[in-house]
Amino acid sequence: MLNFELYNPTNLVFGKGQIEKLGSLVPKNAKILLAYGGGSIFKNGIHEQVIKNLEGFEIIEFGGIEPNPHFETLMKAVAVIKAEKIDFILAVGGGSVIDGVKFISAAAHFEGNPMDILQKRLLIKENAVQFGSILTLPATGSEMNSGAVVTIASTQEKLAFGGSALFPKFSICDPTVITSLPKRQLQNGVVDAYTHVLEQYLTYPHDGMLQDRIAEGILQTLIEVGPGVVENPADYKLASNFMWSCTMALNGLIQKGVPSDWATHMIGHELTALYGIDHARTLAVIAPNLYRVMFETKKGKLAQYGKRIFRLSGSEDEIANAAIEATVSFLHQMGMETKLSDYTDKYDSTADFIVKRFEERGWIGLGEKQLVTLDKVKKIVEMSY
Ligand code: NZQ
Ligand code: ZN
Repeated sequence: MLNFELYNPTNLVFGKGQIEKLGSLVPKNAKILLAYGGGSIFKNGIHEQVIKNLEGFEIIEFGGIEPNPHFETLMKAVAVIKAEKIDFILAVGGGSVIDGVKFISAAAHFEGNPMDILQKRLLIKENAVQFGSILTLPATGSEMNSGAVVTIASTQEKLAFGGSALFPKFSICDPTVITSLPKRQLQNGVVDAYTHVLEQYLTYPHDGMLQDRIAEGILQTLIEVGPGVVENPADYKLASNFMWSCTMALNGLIQKGVPSDWATHMIGHELTALYGIDHARTLAVIAPNLYRVMFETKKGKLAQYGKRIFRLSGSEDEIANAAIEATVSFLHQMGMETKLSDYTDKYDSTADFIVKRFEERGWIGLGEKQLVTLDKVKKIVEMSY
């Protein structure tokens, strides 16, 4: 097992009705920026509950953080923080609002050009404005990690950043909030979380036995509850296991002491930046082809996955290949399309464009062994057309 440090200061407050604790979780006397997205929190009553549970606090609202949040929008919130001398931010929403708030938190006291946080991928270790979250969409794990992804609309770049100062101080995760989610977003949540586990699990055989077993437990739980929860999000047993699985998939625990990949995400982010495809759906397009192209380096782990998750038998190569096909079937069952041409007909030069971008950024070898080289990226994207 590799050496590791496990640091996660987020106070995760999980369960039905936990929003009632909000007033005691926010620092006393804080002036709060309440940040939210396109307005779903007004329709499902969450905004009303937030206001009720923050009686006595001074609150300024900032709405309109879009899915795949834009740098340009977030900088407007940074201006509000400075003008109003805000000392705490409350993110109420899905991954986009929480990620957006991480950027606002990092940029508010940043000396220099805030765009550098994204383009130079600066690590934010101090000087961030404290924030908490109320999660309304289980998917990203952003509620319990210190990473975020922000889009620069003017350059069509979608870039990840993070740092130890960007863990939420608390996150309230009430599984009953998912009843108002459209089916498409529920499907996205299952697939995003499932792929997060695969990015940290489908590498090469190693000695992290417990990490593998926890990862497999999350995969099995998502397979067990995923198809049901998208049909019946009001079922608390399904909703709570779904929400907890999503958090556990990307709160850092399963990646400690083991290699991780993340190439599917890096390529997927480009598809969102170029075509606006939902994050999870880009992963469903890329992941199976990445496993096919990287088969030789991944087949050991693919075979373990095939045996333990799908109970497959045969030779290593047979199980590994069948495991990729079983994954595609699960993605289809979860309502995913798995080809780029299902989303756009303008894909002739997509692979070349992405390769050029990666080259400019110096991303010449992604994945657990840096073997996802530019020619492999080209092949993976072309196979995804
Ligand atoms: O904006 P509102 O009106 O709130 O509507 C949202 C949005 O339209 C809606 N929604 C959320 N909760 C709802 C609801 N509608 C009804 N009822 C509710 N309870 O759902 C839509 C999508 O929301 P969004 O936040 O964009 O989705 P998600 O949580 O999937 O977040 C995706 C973003 O997270 C990034 C992605 O790249 C993408 O930008 N990621 C962040 C990660 C992280 N921080 O660790 C890791 C992930 O891999 C991912 O990259
Ligand atoms: Zn993701």
